Amino acid sequence: MSVNPVIFDHPLIQHKLSFVRDKTTGTKEFRELISEIAALMCFEATRDLPLVESQVETPMGPCKTRVLCGRKLAVVPILRAGLGMVEGILSMIPLAKVGHIGLYRDHDTHLPVEYYSKLPADINERDVFVLDPMLATGGSAVDAITMIKQKGASSIHFMCIIAAPEGLEALSQAHPDVRVYCAALDECLNENKYIVPGLGDAGDRIFGTR
Ligand code: PRP
Ligand code: URA
Repeated sequence: MSVNPVIFDHPLIQHKLSFVRDKTTGTKEFRELISEIAALMCFEATRDLPLVESQVETPMGPCKTRVLCGRKLAVVPILRAGLGMVEGILSMIPLAKVGHIGLYRDHDTHLPVEYYSKLPADINERDVFVLDPMLATGGSAVDAITMIKQKGASSIHFMCIIAAPEGLEALSQAHPDVRVYCAALDECLNENKYIVPGLGDAGDRIFGTR
Protein backbone atom coordinates (compact mmCIF):
# COMPACT_ATOMS: atom_id res chain seq x y z
CA MET A 1 0.00 0.00 0.00
CA SER A 2 2.76 2.44 0.96
CA VAL A 3 4.51 2.45 -2.42
CA ASN A 4 1.53 4.46 -3.62
CA PRO A 5 1.37 7.23 -1.03
CA VAL A 6 -1.47 9.69 -0.87
CA ILE A 7 0.14 12.88 -2.19
CA PHE A 8 -1.64 16.05 -1.12
CA ASP A 9 -1.50 18.35 -4.11
CA HIS A 10 -3.90 20.90 -2.61
CA PRO A 11 -2.83 24.39 -3.72
CA LEU A 12 -2.49 25.70 -0.16
CA ILE A 13 -0.18 22.84 0.78
CA GLN A 14 1.92 23.18 -2.37
CA HIS A 15 2.20 26.95 -1.90
CA LYS A 16 3.44 26.57 1.67
CA LEU A 17 5.77 23.75 0.65
CA SER A 18 7.49 26.10 -1.78
CA PHE A 19 8.47 28.44 1.09
CA VAL A 20 9.49 25.51 3.31
CA ARG A 21 11.93 24.31 0.64
CA ASP A 22 13.41 27.80 0.16
CA LYS A 23 16.79 27.96 1.89
CA THR A 24 16.28 31.65 2.74
CA THR A 25 13.21 30.89 4.91
CA GLY A 26 14.14 31.53 8.56
CA THR A 27 13.49 29.37 11.60
CA LYS A 28 10.34 31.14 12.83
CA GLU A 29 8.62 31.07 9.46
CA PHE A 30 9.82 27.51 8.74
CA ARG A 31 8.36 26.26 12.03
CA GLU A 32 5.04 28.01 11.39
CA LEU A 33 4.83 26.61 7.87
CA ILE A 34 5.53 23.03 8.96
CA SER A 35 2.74 23.32 11.53
CA GLU A 36 0.32 24.81 8.99
CA ILE A 37 1.09 22.12 6.40
CA ALA A 38 0.56 19.43 9.04
CA ALA A 39 -2.85 20.90 9.89
CA LEU A 40 -3.89 20.96 6.23
CA MET A 41 -2.62 17.41 5.71
CA CYS A 42 -4.53 16.27 8.79
CA PHE A 43 -7.70 17.77 7.36
CA GLU A 44 -7.27 15.61 4.25
CA ALA A 45 -5.93 12.49 5.97
CA THR A 46 -8.92 12.24 8.29
CA ARG A 47 -11.59 12.56 5.61
CA ASP A 48 -12.51 8.85 5.96
CA LEU A 49 -13.09 8.91 9.73
CA PRO A 50 -16.47 7.32 10.44
CA LEU A 51 -19.43 9.42 11.52
CA VAL A 52 -22.55 8.47 13.45
CA GLU A 53 -25.97 10.11 13.42
CA SER A 54 -26.65 12.45 16.33
CA GLN A 55 -29.11 15.15 17.25
CA VAL A 56 -28.85 18.58 18.91
CA GLU A 57 -31.27 21.36 19.73
CA THR A 58 -30.52 24.54 17.81
CA PRO A 59 -32.23 27.76 19.01
CA MET A 60 -34.84 26.96 16.34
CA GLY A 61 -35.49 23.34 17.30
CA PRO A 62 -34.14 19.79 16.85
CA CYS A 63 -31.49 19.15 14.21
CA LYS A 64 -30.06 15.83 12.97
CA THR A 65 -26.26 16.03 12.96
CA ARG A 66 -23.27 13.72 12.53
CA VAL A 67 -20.37 13.33 14.96
CA LEU A 68 -17.17 11.30 14.91
CA CYS A 69 -17.45 7.73 16.13
CA GLY A 70 -15.16 4.77 16.24
CA ARG A 71 -11.66 4.45 17.57
CA LYS A 72 -9.87 7.26 19.35
CA LEU A 73 -6.76 8.83 17.86
CA ALA A 74 -3.12 9.14 18.87
CA VAL A 75 -0.33 11.09 17.24
CA VAL A 76 3.28 9.99 17.62
CA PRO A 77 5.97 12.43 16.45
CA ILE A 78 9.43 11.03 15.77
CA LEU A 79 11.82 13.33 17.64
CA ARG A 80 12.98 15.82 16.92
CA ALA A 81 11.55 17.04 13.66
CA GLY A 82 8.17 15.33 14.06
CA LEU A 83 7.48 17.68 16.98
CA GLY A 84 7.07 20.46 14.45
CA MET A 85 3.93 18.78 13.11
CA VAL A 86 2.17 18.12 16.43
CA GLU A 87 0.58 21.50 17.08
CA GLY A 88 -0.92 21.64 13.61
CA ILE A 89 -2.49 18.21 14.03
CA LEU A 90 -3.79 19.00 17.53
CA SER A 91 -5.41 22.18 16.21
CA MET A 92 -7.63 19.83 14.18
CA ILE A 93 -7.89 16.92 16.66
CA PRO A 94 -7.49 18.45 20.12
CA LEU A 95 -8.48 15.28 21.99
CA ALA A 96 -5.81 13.06 20.39
CA LYS A 97 -3.27 11.62 22.80
CA VAL A 98 0.41 12.21 22.05
CA GLY A 99 3.21 9.65 22.26
CA HIS A 100 6.88 10.31 21.52
CA ILE A 101 9.58 8.23 19.90
CA GLY A 102 13.16 9.49 19.93
CA LEU A 103 15.38 8.38 17.05
CA TYR A 104 18.36 10.00 15.40
CA ARG A 105 20.26 8.94 12.31
CA ASP A 106 23.85 7.93 12.93
CA HIS A 107 26.02 10.28 10.88
CA ASP A 108 28.20 7.51 9.45
CA THR A 109 25.84 4.56 8.98
CA HIS A 110 22.66 6.68 8.44
CA LEU A 111 20.85 4.05 10.51
CA PRO A 112 18.38 5.15 13.21
CA VAL A 113 19.43 5.01 16.86
CA GLU A 114 16.67 4.83 19.49
CA TYR A 115 16.92 7.06 22.57
CA TYR A 116 13.34 7.56 23.83
CA SER A 117 9.90 6.00 23.75
CA LYS A 118 6.76 6.97 25.64
CA LEU A 119 3.39 5.96 24.21
CA PRO A 120 -0.20 6.22 25.52
CA ALA A 121 -1.04 3.11 27.58
CA ASP A 122 -4.08 2.38 25.42
CA ILE A 123 -2.30 2.86 22.09
CA ASN A 124 -3.54 -0.58 21.02
CA GLU A 125 -7.10 0.83 21.00
CA ARG A 126 -6.26 3.92 18.94
CA ASP A 127 -5.80 4.92 15.33
CA VAL A 128 -2.21 6.13 15.27
CA PHE A 129 -0.74 8.89 13.11
CA VAL A 130 3.07 8.78 13.10
CA LEU A 131 4.57 12.17 12.24
CA ASP A 132 7.93 13.05 10.68
CA PRO A 133 8.51 15.71 8.03
CA MET A 134 11.11 13.58 6.21
CA LEU A 135 10.98 10.00 4.88
CA ALA A 136 14.50 9.52 3.48
CA THR A 137 15.94 5.98 3.68
CA GLY A 138 12.85 5.02 5.68
CA GLY A 139 14.92 3.58 8.53
CA SER A 140 13.49 5.90 11.19
CA ALA A 141 9.87 5.41 10.11
CA VAL A 142 10.27 1.63 9.89
CA ASP A 143 11.79 1.38 13.38
CA ALA A 144 9.27 3.80 14.94
CA ILE A 145 6.33 1.87 13.51
CA THR A 146 7.84 -1.43 14.65
CA MET A 147 8.08 -0.01 18.18
CA ILE A 148 4.45 1.15 18.06
CA LYS A 149 3.26 -2.23 16.76
CA GLN A 150 5.14 -3.93 19.59
CA LYS A 151 2.86 -2.00 21.97
CA GLY A 152 -0.15 -3.53 20.26
CA ALA A 153 -1.26 -0.83 17.80
CA SER A 154 -2.66 -2.18 14.57
CA SER A 155 -4.14 0.84 12.78
CA ILE A 156 -1.20 3.04 11.82
CA HIS A 157 -0.79 5.90 9.34
CA PHE A 158 2.45 7.69 8.49
CA MET A 159 2.37 11.41 7.72
CA CYS A 160 5.42 13.10 6.26
CA ILE A 161 5.90 16.26 4.26
CA ILE A 162 8.56 15.07 1.80
CA ALA A 163 9.16 11.43 0.87
CA ALA A 164 11.94 9.82 -1.16
CA PRO A 165 11.27 6.77 -3.34
CA GLU A 166 13.81 4.77 -1.32
CA GLY A 167 11.96 5.47 1.93
CA LEU A 168 8.59 4.56 0.48
CA GLU A 169 9.97 1.27 -0.79
CA ALA A 170 11.55 0.42 2.59
CA LEU A 171 8.38 1.33 4.47
CA SER A 172 6.12 -0.67 2.18
CA GLN A 173 8.41 -3.72 2.49
CA ALA A 174 8.50 -3.56 6.29
CA HIS A 175 4.94 -2.35 6.96
CA PRO A 176 2.71 -2.91 3.93
CA ASP A 177 -0.37 -2.24 6.06
CA VAL A 178 0.61 1.37 6.83
CA ARG A 179 -0.86 4.12 4.66
CA VAL A 180 1.57 6.93 3.83
CA TYR A 181 0.53 10.55 3.33
CA CYS A 182 2.93 13.18 2.00
CA ALA A 183 2.94 16.59 0.35
CA ALA A 184 5.64 15.71 -2.18
CA LEU A 185 7.47 12.70 -3.57
CA ASP A 186 10.99 13.88 -4.42
CA GLU A 187 13.59 12.50 -6.81
CA CYS A 188 16.24 10.65 -4.82
CA LEU A 189 18.73 10.65 -1.95
CA ASN A 190 22.23 12.12 -2.17
CA GLU A 191 25.43 10.42 -0.97
CA ASN A 192 24.66 11.54 2.62
CA LYS A 193 21.14 10.12 2.40
CA TYR A 194 19.51 13.56 2.30
CA ILE A 195 16.45 14.01 0.12
CA VAL A 196 17.06 15.86 -3.16
CA PRO A 197 15.79 18.49 -3.71
CA GLY A 198 14.14 18.15 -0.26
CA LEU A 199 14.40 20.97 2.24
CA GLY A 200 17.68 20.19 4.02
CA ASP A 201 17.82 19.04 7.64
CA ALA A 202 14.29 19.37 8.99
CA GLY A 203 15.23 19.19 12.69
CA ASP A 204 17.93 21.84 12.34
CA ARG A 205 15.61 24.13 10.40
CA ILE A 206 12.73 23.76 12.89
CA PHE A 207 14.87 24.28 15.98
CA GLY A 208 17.52 26.60 14.55
CA THR A 209 20.37 24.32 15.54
CA ARG A 210 22.61 24.94 12.55
C1 PRP B 1 15.58 13.10 10.32
C2 PRP B 1 14.11 13.13 10.04
C3 PRP B 1 13.74 11.69 10.16
C4 PRP B 1 14.95 10.98 9.61
C5 PRP B 1 14.66 10.54 8.21
O1 PRP B 1 15.84 13.02 11.68
O2 PRP B 1 13.40 13.97 10.91
O3 PRP B 1 13.47 11.27 11.49
O4 PRP B 1 16.02 11.93 9.63
O5 PRP B 1 15.70 9.81 7.70
P1 PRP B 1 15.56 8.26 7.36
O6 PRP B 1 14.29 8.09 6.61
O7 PRP B 1 16.77 8.01 6.50
O8 PRP B 1 15.61 7.49 8.65
P2 PRP B 1 17.32 13.09 12.27
O9 PRP B 1 17.90 11.72 12.37
O10 PRP B 1 18.13 14.07 11.48
O11 PRP B 1 17.10 13.56 13.74
P3 PRP B 1 16.57 14.97 14.30
O12 PRP B 1 15.12 15.08 13.90
O13 PRP B 1 16.74 14.81 15.75
O14 PRP B 1 17.40 16.06 13.71
N1 URA C 1 16.57 14.02 7.39
C1 URA C 1 16.35 15.32 7.08
O1 URA C 1 16.11 16.15 7.96
N2 URA C 1 16.41 15.68 5.80
C2 URA C 1 16.68 14.79 4.81
O2 URA C 1 16.72 15.19 3.63
C3 URA C 1 16.90 13.45 5.17
C4 URA C 1 16.84 13.09 6.47
